[in-house]
Amino acid sequence: MKILSLVGARPQFIKEALLNSTVHHKKAWKHVLVHSGQHYDINMSDVFFQELGIPKPAHYLDIGSCSHAVMTASVLVAVEKILIEEKPDALLVYGDTNTTLAGALAAVKIHVPIIHIEAGIRMLPKTMPEEINRVLTDHVSSLLCCCSELGRQNLEKEDIRHGVEVTGDIMYDLFLRMQPRFTVEKTCTKYGLVPEKFVLATLHRDYNVDSPVILRKLLEGLNSIQKEQGFTLFFPLHPRTRRRIAEFGLEHLLQNLLIAPPLGYLELMSLMCASAFAVTDSGGLQKEAFYANKRCIVMMPDTGWRELIDCGWNILCDPTQDSIAEAVESILTSAEHPGAIYGDGQAVGRTIQKIITAFSP
Ligand code: UD1
Repeated sequence: MKILSLVGARPQFIKEALLNSTVHHKKAWKHVLVHSGQHYDINMSDVFFQELGIPKPAHYLDIGSCSHAVMTASVLVAVEKILIEEKPDALLVYGDTNTTLAGALAAVKIHVPIIHIEAGIRMLPKTMPEEINRVLTDHVSSLLCCCSELGRQNLEKEDIRHGVEVTGDIMYDLFLRMQPRFTVEKTCTKYGLVPEKFVLATLHRDYNVDSPVILRKLLEGLNSIQKEQGFTLFFPLHPRTRRRIAEFGLEHLLQNLLIAPPLGYLELMSLMCASAFAVTDSGGLQKEAFYANKRCIVMMPDTGWRELIDCGWNILCDPTQDSIAEAVESILTSAEHPGAIYGDGQAVGRTIQKIITAFSP
C-alpha cells in the first residue's frame, strides 16, 4: 500500500513527524512525503524537520507566500501531477491550511481517497479561511480521524457519518514522547527567563494581526499583563505578525516585551512547561498548554478545542484591555486539571490501524 502525505505548515510538520517515524518503524506502507512550501523560512519549516527527524520530502512544491487563491491553485495543480505520477492508495492531509484544502480538491477530482487528520473541528467565524478549509476538506474525505468525540458529533450534524473515527490527538502522543527531550532550565537560561515568572504569548490569526486596531489592543493587553502582574511577556513573533507590527507602526509596544523569532518544537514546549500560563490564538498551542499542565487565555472569538473552555481550563478572550485583565485574574486562580480529553497517547497507532483497514488493497 502507498500513502501520499501532504504537509505545508508548522502544525502539520509536528504531526507528520510522529506519524512518519511510526509508519517507517512498523513498515505499515510506502509513505511518500510532499511539502507544499507554504511555510519555508528556516525557523518555520527546516527546524522541525531537523529536530524531529522528519525525512526529506520526496516532493517539494516551493509555493511560498501568496494570496489564498494563488496558493490554493498552485498546490492544487502541483499535487494533481504528483498524484497521477505516484498513484497512491490515498492522500493524507492534516488540519485546516490552504495546503490541506488544495490537496483534498486535487485528490477528490481524480478519485484518490482522502484521509483527514484532525477532522470535525468547527468554530466561528465561519468566514475564517481555516474554517472554510476544514469544512470543505471534511466533506470530500473518506477517512476522518477526530481528536475527540466532539469532532464526531460536529460531523454528524453535517450528515458525515461514514468513515468517521475518534482516534485521539497525535500532538498529545508527540508531546508525551518528546517530553524527555525538553530542556526546561537550559531554554529558560538561553532566553533569560525565570520559570513560572513569565507568560508565553503567540499571535498570528488574520483577524487578530491584520487589523491595526485589534493588533494594537492585543499588544497593549500583553503590556498590561507585564505591568500589572509583573510577569515577563515572552513573545516569539510569527513572520506575519512581525510584518504587520512594522507596517502599522506599533514597534513601540514591543519595547517592554521579550520578543524572539519563531521557536522550534523542543524549545517552545520546554518554555511552555516553565511558563506561568499561555496567551495564544494558535490552535495547537492551546492544546499543548493543557498537555503541559498550563492554563491558557485563547485570543479567539471561538475555538475548535471547546472541551478545554467548557471545563474551565482555558478561557476565551476578546481583544480588549478589560477582557484580558479579567481573563488573567481568572487564569491565576487554581483549577483542577480535567484529565485526558484528546486520547490516551496512542492516537498514532490507532490512526495507522484505521488507515490499513480502510485502504489496504
Ligand atoms: C497558516 C494556516 C493556519 C495555521 C498557521 C500555522 C492557512 C490559511 N492558515 O497561517 O491555519 O495555524 O499556518 O502557523 O493556511 N511567512 C513567512 N515565512 C514563512 C511562512 C509565512 O514570512 O515561512 C509570512 C508571509 O508573509 C505570509 C504570512 O506569513 O504571507 C502568512 O503565512 P500563511 O502560510 O499564509 O498563513 P499563516 O498565518 O502562517
